[in-house]
Amino acid sequence: MYHKRYVIPLILVFLIGFFTPYWYNAMAGSFGYEPELKKPAGECVEDAKWMASNHMLLLQQWRTQGIRNAAEGGKIYHSFTTGKEFYITINDCWSCHTDKKEFCDQCHDYIGIHPECWDCHYTPDIEKPHYEGIDGLSKYFS
Ligand code: HEC
Ligand code: HEC
Ligand code: HEC
Repeated sequence: MYHKRYVIPLILVFLIGFFTPYWYNAMAGSFGYEPELKKPAGECVEDAKWMASNHMLLLQQWRTQGIRNAAEGGKIYHSFTTGKEFYITINDCWSCHTDKKEFCDQCHDYIGIHPECWDCHYTPDIEKPHYEGIDGLSKYFS
């Protein structure tokens, strides 16, 4: 009925299987890949950890507040972390995070999302057209 010699190996197999997720999680930080971010000095609009999880919601709130309630002072955002005031615009992020590719895109590419905001909105990576005199125009007509 009982196969005694299997009992201890089977208990070991069970224990290893059962605890693997715990070990994995305990060690995940040391072998997981994390994107490297170029962070500016100073403080973000809100606490950095909060921003990492909630910046998309913040931007959505800014959009509603800045457009619908602009007339009632909706253009001003009070940080609940630092108490500082920010003028609400999606472009404000670039005043500190000067490079979208080295900051925002590092995370977004990693998780495979491409927010469509910059189909319309400005980013510092866009080359601004500027008038260089009449000769400069020739490149458009060659
Ligand atoms: C189809 C074009 C388009 C897309 C895509 C778009 N927006 Fe906008 N957004 C606008 C326009 C137009 C305004 C109004 C600008 C104004 O009145 O100053 C605006 C205003 C805003 C504002 C408030 C004003 C400001 O200067 O920032 C925020 C915040 C904003 N958008 C965030 C976003 C976010 C976040 C996304 C992506 C999830 C996004 N938008 C995608 C066109 C777009
Ligand atoms: C006044 C300068 C400033 C502005 C404006 C600013 N940031 Fe930041 N942001 C920082 C700094 C500095 C850090 C790093 C803080 C730290 O590590 O303690 C940071 C961190 C972050 C992080 C967390 C990165 C991480 O995982 O550690 C995200 C996400 C972020 N910012 C998004 C945004 C977005 C989106 C906007 C525009 C709504 C914005 N920031 C506007 C300065 C700014
Ligand atoms: C720490 C990693 C990280 C950084 C840095 C980061 N993001 Fe994100 N972003 C995310 C994650 C995660 C999501 C949410 C994906 C989801 O829920 O589908 C997201 C989503 C967004 C969305 C929402 C897209 C939508 O369609 O609703 C916007 C807008 C956005 N990020 C803007 C920014 C901007 C602007 C910056 C740079 C100033 C930035 N993010 C930097 C991780 C990051």
